[in-house]
Amino acid sequence: MERKRVLVSERIAEEGLEMLRTELDVDFRDDISREELLSVIDQYDALIVRSVTKVNEELIKRGTRLKVIGRAGNGIDNIDVDVCTRYGIIVANTPDSNTVSAAEQTISLLLSSVRNTAWANDVLKGGIWDRKPFRGTELYGKTVGIIGLGRIGSMVATRLKAFNMNIIAYDPYIADERFERFGAEKKNSLEELLAEADVVTVHTPKTKETIHMIDEKAIALTKKGVILVNCARGGIFKETAVIEGLENGKIANVALDVYEKEPAIDNPIFKYTNVVCTPHLGADTFEAQKRVGENIAEQVLLALKGEIVPNV
Ligand code: NAD
Ligand code: MLT
Repeated sequence: MERKRVLVSERIAEEGLEMLRTELDVDFRDDISREELLSVIDQYDALIVRSVTKVNEELIKRGTRLKVIGRAGNGIDNIDVDVCTRYGIIVANTPDSNTVSAAEQTISLLLSSVRNTAWANDVLKGGIWDRKPFRGTELYGKTVGIIGLGRIGSMVATRLKAFNMNIIAYDPYIADERFERFGAEKKNSLEELLAEADVVTVHTPKTKETIHMIDEKAIALTKKGVILVNCARGGIFKETAVIEGLENGKIANVALDVYEKEPAIDNPIFKYTNVVCTPHLGADTFEAQKRVGENIAEQVLLALKGEIVPNV
């Protein structure tokens, strides 16, 4: 019997590729252009993507053999799930596999941000020994406002508790018990959280509701000298508003892993020394990528055999 074919259009761990190869013909093409993707997608039974490949109707209607889209990661905002459903295509992701890594990256960005680590590193390696510009801020005793107390937000809460931070959270979709479990004081509105937090960190999916959730109006409600962290999705922060807040001194520091437009090249926010940036590395650890790769391979194999797929 002819083996089924899977196209992997973004880098996943070798362990996942190996699992796929045991049963499928695998084309790993992280260099594929959009044009080529559109022209070859009809040859594949499955497509595995991360966050860059846009899986929209233009692509789906050409994928006449497609049975499953595997999202090697958590957020599915790059996939039009409604369209996939309409065309009878399963969408599976790996929501738990990179949670720890994303939470740790959030903490890493926050610490780097409040202690100017990345900026000081650049200056020192540029040949200048100067301590004056880099005086930082302690997290101890400060209030962190967590927007979205799901998998990652709750892990961020427990980790920041160990820094003796006061945790407040806004998440209208969870039970009160979850706030209690993670030692977070529930805030009934975003406005309340923004008014009280020294640090605001977002951990929601990108949805119609959360796009530009942190905009001019939201920033106006924050304390002067607020620190903003986005390790969730580009677009939750309105970047022009954040730049305005940096310019007028309302915002002290910003830490970003994700951007409105990715890949982010020449983003105007890069020029600020009080903004620390990483290129969407939240899930990029050896441990998370091994879990993600194996998990998505397992689900794609199940889907192609017509078996139950856990994370659809
Ligand atoms: P999750 O579904 O477990 O938690 C999200 C939480 O956000 C939920 O509790 C939900 O109720 C809440 N929420 C939804 N809409 C909200 C709103 N309007 N206001 C307040 N809260 C709202 O998701 P997760 O696993 O914690 O992931 C969170 C985000 O992190 C996702 O967008 C995901 O794509 C992103 N992520 C980024 C990276 C990275 O590499 N930077 C890695 C993994 C995940
Ligand atoms: C995710 O949602 O899992 C992240 O964007 C990580 C990734 O795909 O690199």
